[in-house]
Amino acid sequence: YNADTKGMLKALWELPEQCARAWELGMAADVSPMDDLRQVVVTGLGGSAIGGDLLRVYATQRLDVPVVVNRDYVLPKFVGPHTLVFAVSYSGNTEETLSAYSQAREKGARLVVLTTGGKLGELAKNDGVPVITVPGGIAPRSATGYLFIPTLAVLYRMGLLPDLSHEVAECTSLLQSMREKLKPEVPLDSNQAKMLAASFHNRIPVIWGSSGTTEVVAQRWKGQINENAKAPAYWNVFPELNHNELVGFEFPGELLRRLYVVILRDPQDHPRVQKRFAITREIMEGAVAGVVEIMARGSGALARMYSLVYIGDYASVYLAMLYGVDPGPVRVIDTLKARLA
Ligand code: F6R
Repeated sequence: YNADTKGMLKALWELPEQCARAWELGMAADVSPMDDLRQVVVTGLGGSAIGGDLLRVYATQRLDVPVVVNRDYVLPKFVGPHTLVFAVSYSGNTEETLSAYSQAREKGARLVVLTTGGKLGELAKNDGVPVITVPGGIAPRSATGYLFIPTLAVLYRMGLLPDLSHEVAECTSLLQSMREKLKPEVPLDSNQAKMLAASFHNRIPVIWGSSGTTEVVAQRWKGQINENAKAPAYWNVFPELNHNELVGFEFPGELLRRLYVVILRDPQDHPRVQKRFAITREIMEGAVAGVVEIMARGSGALARMYSLVYIGDYASVYLAMLYGVDPGPVRVIDTLKARLA
């Protein structure tokens, strides 16, 4: 392996411990309860925003207030003194997030910052805003534990979610056992992530999740394939895709033979959605290169989400290796940021 592949594989190997550490970091944050909370907003971009989406799905059935993810310079109009804003930027230097942070201050929102440092860390320190400083040195997308799990601990500390330490512990030990079967030393025929990478090779992965369960994980797989393997991938969610995307699978000829479909499943998927999986498969199966279903493991929602995230993360790195590209650098993002400077 080249250095970047090694670094990415190391970060993946350490994800279980990252989840455990992330909970501790959130528990140590200097936050106090808020009894007039009306909304939670997570503001960030890319790898720093996906944790917000994980929180949004996680909290939908557990929190009394909505979680809104903001990937923009500008915050929604409703943000005010009754809003808790998590400003998340791994580097601390993302201009959209810095702008949203200043707006949150102007609007009098309660703020918590998650970052490795940068300008955001400095601003928050000067403003007396609580900062959760997460370890640096990895790609933001490899820091999904650090950029999501502390928000759960903060919400617990504010009396808005129950104590989730047992869910974090389950997630950690599940991932620790999964990595033994996903690591590079395990050969293709018994390594689920390598098999997926082989199926994706020279094809376009299409990743389907379901609203309220695996939707963000599907988006995560797509992003990881894009950023690690430098390859196209697309995602969508049930039941919505049954109302539009499926019609495209009537397309005649060979074009669809380039698509490889993954359906990410969760035991909590709505029973009608589970029926939709089976019918959808029957309708489009012969038209595409292949369809595979992957079921989430574990009992708690956190373990179920991360069990699927983990398989996709490993598969995207193995796909990078098949394409002979470095999974680490995302030069096109760096170029774009530099041209905007
Ligand atoms: C993911 C990645 C990007 C960044 C995004 C925002 O690995 O490199 O998606 O996460 O450009 O930057 P940060 O996370 O530093 O705020």
